[in-house]
Amino acid sequence: MTTTAPAPTSGVPVGPGLSMFDPIFVGIDEFGQPVYITLAYRNLLAGGEPGGGKSGLLNCIAAHAALAVDSRLVLLDGKLVELGQWEDCADAFIGPDITAALTVLRRLQQVMNNRYAWLRAHGRRKLTAADGLSVITVLVDEIAFFSATVGSKQEQEEFVALLRDLVARGRAAGIPVVAATQRPSFDIIPTSLRDLFGYRAAFRCTTPNSSNIVLGHGWAEQGYSATDISPSNQGAAYLIAEGGVPRRIKVAYLSDAQISGIADYAAWIRRPTGLSVPAGTATEWEAVA
Ligand SMILES: Nc1ncnc2c1ncn2[C@@H]1O[C@H](COP(=O)(O)OP(=O)(O)O)[C@@H](O)[C@H]1O
Ligand SMILES: [Mg+2]
Repeated sequence: MTTTAPAPTSGVPVGPGLSMFDPIFVGIDEFGQPVYITLAYRNLLAGGEPGGGKSGLLNCIAAHAALAVDSRLVLLDGKLVELGQWEDCADAFIGPDITAALTVLRRLQQVMNNRYAWLRAHGRRKLTAADGLSVITVLVDEIAFFSATVGSKQEQEEFVALLRDLVARGRAAGIPVVAATQRPSFDIIPTSLRDLFGYRAAFRCTTPNSSNIVLGHGWAEQGYSATDISPSNQGAAYLIAEGGVPRRIKVAYLSDAQISGIADYAAWIRRPTGLSVPAGTATEWEAVA
């Protein structure tokens, strides 16, 4: 007689699904304590020098969003390779193409307007997990690429206007924006835009002024300056949450191989099964093509 349970022979073990309404693990603080952020109702801005670890943070968030059963991903990555591994998990993956970027942002704006109309009709102010609508997580790696590098001046201005609208209004509609910039300057991140991001992460900066542009005015003078971060301490940042004090963190870094593994698994759990969706039924997002 054997007491060993037979090894499962069918199916793939599926872990409990994550939710975008769950706290997202992003790393540890200076005491080694875990640091979480809740993105469902807040946007996040990551700023700092190239090589500081901004894309690392975006990938950490992308991993949670990809594994969250109630999230859709919209990725804008002018460099293609920073978020490229998540393409199969994403509803839209935009490379260095301003026309495609504008199209996807206009579409998101329409989805957001529809959601607000729906909320209003129900006498509500914000989406909750119980609504069954997915959180559409929008990740933009390098705002300046779309707002100052590619496209005509008019297109760049439209990009900024659409992004600002999404950042300003998207959060209660379940459309949080996570954006990175290596150019924390007033022309790329005006104060009025910066303040719309509930979470801001300042990776290594070269001047107290650029650190202040990310974290908020006056923090460098109070001793919270991302100029303190050593260039060799990649992934270290000051993270501030709306109304709080900057906290020194070290982002949990995912290697390319780890991302590839998670993205593969996430794409698998997101695969269309063709069983639960009746043919011809468009999802909310697809309906606004
Ligand atoms: N949290 C981290 N822990 C350890 N190393 C990191 C971390 N984040 C980034 N790095 C290292 O720094 C390099 C640059 O990081 P990246 O996220 O691409 O910077 P940025 O997007 O700010 O230019 C990565 O290739 C990696 O080697
Ligand atoms: Mg980067």
